[in-house]
Amino acid sequence: MKILVTGGTGYIGSHTAVELQKEGFGVLVIDNLCNSEKHVIDSIGEITGQKPLFEQIDLRDPEATMEVFSKHNDISGVIHFAALKAVGESVEKPLEYYHNNLFSMINLLKAMRETGISNLVFSSSCTVYGQPDQLPVNEKAPRKDAESPYGNTKKISEDIIEDTVRTTGMKAIALRYFNPIGAHGSALIGELPVGTPNNLVPYITQTAAGIRDHLRVFGNDYDTPDGTPIRDYIHVADLARAHVIAMNRMLRNQNKDRYEIFNLGTGNGFTVLEVIKSFEKVSGIKLNHKIVQRRPGDVEKVWADTTHANEELGWKAEKGLDEMMLSAWNWEKSLQAQKNKKS
Ligand code: NAD
Ligand code: UFG
Repeated sequence: MKILVTGGTGYIGSHTAVELQKEGFGVLVIDNLCNSEKHVIDSIGEITGQKPLFEQIDLRDPEATMEVFSKHNDISGVIHFAALKAVGESVEKPLEYYHNNLFSMINLLKAMRETGISNLVFSSSCTVYGQPDQLPVNEKAPRKDAESPYGNTKKISEDIIEDTVRTTGMKAIALRYFNPIGAHGSALIGELPVGTPNNLVPYITQTAAGIRDHLRVFGNDYDTPDGTPIRDYIHVADLARAHVIAMNRMLRNQNKDRYEIFNLGTGNGFTVLEVIKSFEKVSGIKLNHKIVQRRPGDVEKVWADTTHANEELGWKAEKGLDEMMLSAWNWEKSLQAQKNKKS
């Protein structure tokens, strides 16, 4: 069976392509390479022994999108990762974010409807919960007003999908990721942040690699044990595995509703300082960091209630924080080695 993976040369998409192939699925990747590189297809092939098919198209283009579906008429399901994802940039460029993330979503759903493809897995985010009233947060918690245009595109996309499945024969599963980190054990694929990273873990590894002078810890006056914010960090390989399970659930008609939502996290929260400590432990490197002011828009603490995913999907995150940080560090070292080879 062939699964279309949009954004499949990106961070989470590439790890999911690997997991799909490991489970015997054929994979067709589409990506416009606005935030990833084509050689990732070769790296996936190196890991699995089989290169996925690849079409370089922009999902904002409805004709190009439809053409891919007409050309590949044996697609059983779609996993939709393609989106712009930088929260800060979305505040600066709201129209670009709404245009990219929502037009892509709509063009994809139209092409699926027109070609009769019914199974969709969508990358959503715990950002839809904002600062939850109760922790751990479960899927029934109210969605809050989005903190950014990026967050709003996730909320609106969830609504577009739900409205669409209610009126077509389609089925969909929205996966709300908590904080994906780490990289594949082979260190052949991982996150490729363009420019200065916004996220904590690539910033830590780049600082340790000497690319950044120091990590700024955004605030230590939160209501948490050490004053720094708490997140639920999840290994990208655990996350990728959940997509295969979600797709199989629909292909095997095991879904309980046409539209389902699952939190994907470990259920454990860690502070920023705990993440730094874990990194220092596994790398043996003392990380240069300074406490600075809070970053606007950051929530204080969030971690997942994973009961629904555990019980319904039969999925549980397996990897702990140290393993996540070690794989992130190995990936950073592999990136630096590649760069040194080129220069
Ligand atoms: P990524 O940027 O590494 O991958 C996204 C891919 O989509 C990139 O390869 C990019 O080139 C491609 N893309 C973007 N717009 C496109 C378009 N119009 N047409 C074709 N391709 C396009 O990001 P990621 O971290 O792998 O995230 C994947 C998905 O998961 C995104 O939807 C993101 O919003 C969501 N998500 C990510 C996180 C996170 O922390 N990484 C957290 C929650 C949700
Ligand atoms: N942090 C720092 N210094 C940095 C970067 C981050 O102290 O240089 C702190 C942040 O203040 C926060 C924690 O590290 O407390 C995590 O920050 P990230 O930027 O790594 O992640 P966020 O929780 O802010 O957001 C991420 C993605 C969003 C997504 C969300 C939930 O960027 O797109 O996880 O999945 F919506």
